[in-house]
Amino acid sequence: MGKKDKVLIFDTTLRDGEQAPGASMSVREKLEIAYTLEKLGVDIIEAGFPVISKGDFDSVETVAKHIKNSCVCGLARSIKKDIDAAADALKPAKHKRIHVFLATSKIHMEHKFKKGKEEILQMAVDAVKHARAKVDNIEFSPEDASRSDKDFLYQVLEDVIKAGATTVNIPDTVGYAVPAEYGKLIADIKNNVPNINKAIISTHCHDDLGFAVSNSLSGVENGARQVECTINGIGERAGNASMEEIVMAIKTRQDYYNLMTGINTKEFYRASRLVSKYTGFVVPPNKAIVGANAFRHESGIHQDGVLKEKSTYEIMAGEDVGFNMEVMVLGKHSGRHAFKDRLKQLGVELDDAKIDKAFERFKNLADKKKQVYDDDLLAIVDDEVQPFKNIWALEDLKVISAMGSKPEVEVVLKKEGKTYMKKATGDGPVNACYKAIDAITKIKAELLDYSLQSVTEGKDALGEVTAKVKVEGKKVVSHGTSTDIVEASAKAYINAVNKVLSVE
Ligand code: KIV
Ligand code: ZN
Repeated sequence: MGKKDKVLIFDTTLRDGEQAPGASMSVREKLEIAYTLEKLGVDIIEAGFPVISKGDFDSVETVAKHIKNSCVCGLARSIKKDIDAAADALKPAKHKRIHVFLATSKIHMEHKFKKGKEEILQMAVDAVKHARAKVDNIEFSPEDASRSDKDFLYQVLEDVIKAGATTVNIPDTVGYAVPAEYGKLIADIKNNVPNINKAIISTHCHDDLGFAVSNSLSGVENGARQVECTINGIGERAGNASMEEIVMAIKTRQDYYNLMTGINTKEFYRASRLVSKYTGFVVPPNKAIVGANAFRHESGIHQDGVLKEKSTYEIMAGEDVGFNMEVMVLGKHSGRHAFKDRLKQLGVELDDAKIDKAFERFKNLADKKKQVYDDDLLAIVDDEVQPFKNIWALEDLKVISAMGSKPEVEVVLKKEGKTYMKKATGDGPVNACYKAIDAITKIKAELLDYSLQSVTEGKDALGEVTAKVKVEGKKVVSHGTSTDIVEASAKAYINAVNKVLSVE
């Protein structure tokens, strides 16, 4: 087997991923994800669509300022003002790319643009030339490529490469293609675009029919050397191709693909948790690679096989994707040093003040729970170490609830050393609790979505609430964790208020 070709990993979690309904993230959250992507070894980070809003511009500019190892990319339509905005936002980047797109399918050209092939071709060429005059590294995407007339597509690709495009991306924008067909499209492009070896071919596949990963890999098998993907597969509608699935397929089946990526796969589990936390999109337990059950064996026959020889039922090691099932054996008598050490092994490094706070929570939890798992630890850290000010803090919570009567909740909150107390009744204890909090803060907050998951197994498990809340017109995702689910709910709601009140 000869030297392995490298497949470049282009992550679009912060752009296409953020286009998933309800997934919007703050600049600070995007930067934190960008650092994680850089740590993963992602080759190109698409940080946003600068012309679309001030928030998007700021995100791309902020990521461009801080990320040094990955190339930072901004999206632009084939319009001068878009390209100028992308170039401006990318100014501070050490390595930069402008990604220009324009639809080439008959459906899009007729209905969106009311333009014919000649005009579209000219727009694409002009856009790439304009972008190339500003930045050397240019990607062009013929949007809806998989439903475009092939001869026209070849012509567009040939001309944009002549105009200076260094990567040509082939989007299956509506997730319509099937794997053999998408692979053939890439092979046909290789065989029919005369100057194709002057550019890298990229895949960009959506998951409407559940083929995003298979289509991307089929593209790679047929000569694509860049894959566009997202953490957890988030993206417009049904999402994009999932990075962790593509990279692990290439790594695990090297015998088949004979390819490599530059990704440090041990960071996947952490990256997945972070994206889930900031988007509020819970990862299903059966999700390949990063789902909670991905490395768990339930059936006795499987467990027996794995104990005898791991490879009987395991094709990858959980550790290779950063999945760690170790139980933290420290109990309530354990010391701060061992606690800090375990966090460090989990990749969490905190200053002393934050360690103290998290350690106090750990001690309280160890009093209530027999075994403290790594996931519990990470949940505690997430809960205690929030990247915003604790303007309002939960001091006390009393719930009176009985079947057949309306629950009553008493909430005590603290702000700037002063305590405030209110009681409220509601349809359920969480509803009553939120009413009491509203009465204290006098802030207009609306609960848009709410979910509750147990962090680990067992009756004594921590409950983690994810809430989407509209606070003073701004939508935010927040979390709260406790062994008491009303308390976890209260924390999530208060965190949403604090997040909006803190100046970001
Ligand atoms: O799906 C798509 O076509 C896109 C392009 C902007 C690349 O996201
Ligand atoms: Zn897309």
